[in-house]
Amino acid sequence: MPATCVVGLQWGDEAKGKIVDILSDSHQFVVRFNGGANAGHTVVWGDRKFALSLLPTGVLKPHVTSVIGNGVVVFPPRFLEEVGKLRAGGVPVGGNLVVSDHAHVILPYHMEEERLAEAESEGKIGTTGRGIGPCYQDKVGRRYAIRVGELLHPNHLRERLKQIVPIKNRLLKAIGDSAKSFDADQLADEYLGYAEQIKPHVTDTTRLLHDALAADKSILFEAAQGSLLDVDHGTYPYVTSSSSLPSGIWGGSGVPSRCVTRIIGVIKAYTSRVGRGPCPTELTDDLGERIRTVGREFGTVTGRPRRVGWLDALTVKYTAALAGVDEVTVMLLDVLSGIPELKICVAYELDGQRIEHFPSDAYQLERCKPIYETLPGWTEDLTKCRKATDLPAAARRYVDRVGALVGKPVSVVSVGPDRDQTIHLK
Ligand code: GDP
Ligand code: IMO
Ligand code: MG
Repeated sequence: MPATCVVGLQWGDEAKGKIVDILSDSHQFVVRFNGGANAGHTVVWGDRKFALSLLPTGVLKPHVTSVIGNGVVVFPPRFLEEVGKLRAGGVPVGGNLVVSDHAHVILPYHMEEERLAEAESEGKIGTTGRGIGPCYQDKVGRRYAIRVGELLHPNHLRERLKQIVPIKNRLLKAIGDSAKSFDADQLADEYLGYAEQIKPHVTDTTRLLHDALAADKSILFEAAQGSLLDVDHGTYPYVTSSSSLPSGIWGGSGVPSRCVTRIIGVIKAYTSRVGRGPCPTELTDDLGERIRTVGREFGTVTGRPRRVGWLDALTVKYTAALAGVDEVTVMLLDVLSGIPELKICVAYELDGQRIEHFPSDAYQLERCKPIYETLPGWTEDLTKCRKATDLPAAARRYVDRVGALVGKPVSVVSVGPDRDQTIHLK
């Protein structure tokens, strides 16, 4: 059974959660392979709204086995809080949620390290403050990292923390005078408490997924963040610390990339970005404010207002190629209703030259000025459209133009947060 991947083609928050939620009906496994609780996916069904951060979106469906793969960084209290909220909301979560014993654990000193580093204006990235970067640094550095599997061995965990915490305390003091200090025994007690509750979910998820492949089960990979936040190919250093492209699947889940035969690129009909870093099409005027308000563009994780702008075809062309997408979905099209003229960036002016490729060097990108193509807008409310023929001609033209610029078929147009507000195109 071929596997599918859903990936965002911009700077995150493209509404991947909605697409994953729809596709999870027809999949048996939904897998997160990167990031952690820096992600925020909102899923709406009628009057029910779910916000997921660390847990795979598949967890809303009892028939799905939701997998937190080895490439994810896990903050145990957040895991337990999300599970608790879902259960309180009537969503059964039990053996259908599994966590890799190889996933890495976020500890409070990771968040403290991030807080201190982000307090400096120099080098500030505008992170979510969830300890993601420092935890991945420890993972790659190996000496001070703790994996989920280690939480299940009390004596070992206590010993490890006794080695690590004094070093972390010294490091934190060196980063900032206001650094908090941590106590190894206290942390061990706290994390052993979490371990008791997480234990039933911990397993070798790589083997589980290989067994699933062998048994011809359907697997859906849910990339967190967006392609432009990928640590290798995004707008470095203003990126996250993991591989958010489908290339992260192999490393972050153990499933060979060749098993993934359908890759769906999710595009917001305009651009949004949270945190620092270049965004050539950003609108800082009243129109930007209007799009932010209508699109409810405030971060799910941090509540920060998202920066918004026109759609940038150069970015999505670049990321669609990197991600190897077969098709794209155009989301939040309804937000653009009532804007007389719509712009799509089709080239940049860089140091006086017209360029038609995306410079992945953030410092070059900062100097790029967008060159736009203008399309007519529409006045109609799209939120009740359910089929392509319900869309006004100008909206249809906008979608067709996006598909043509990316060079991939548009399979879905989304006209509202609810799963019913979805148009499937042939
Ligand atoms: P993700 O991180 O990519 O899953 O996206 P987020 O959940 O962070 O942000 C997308 C937001 O847009 C969520 O609040 C969704 O409920 C909402 N949304 C999804 N599709 C649509 C749509 O077509 N129109 C509108 N207006 N909102 C949408
Ligand atoms: P979803 O999955 C949008 C951004 C942060 C910051 C940068 C680094 O909801 O699309 P980090 O905390 O990861 O070290 O922050 O990445 N960022 C996101 N922006 N959507 C996300 O996830 C994001 N995850 C991280 O705002 O600019
Ligand atoms: Mg999000």
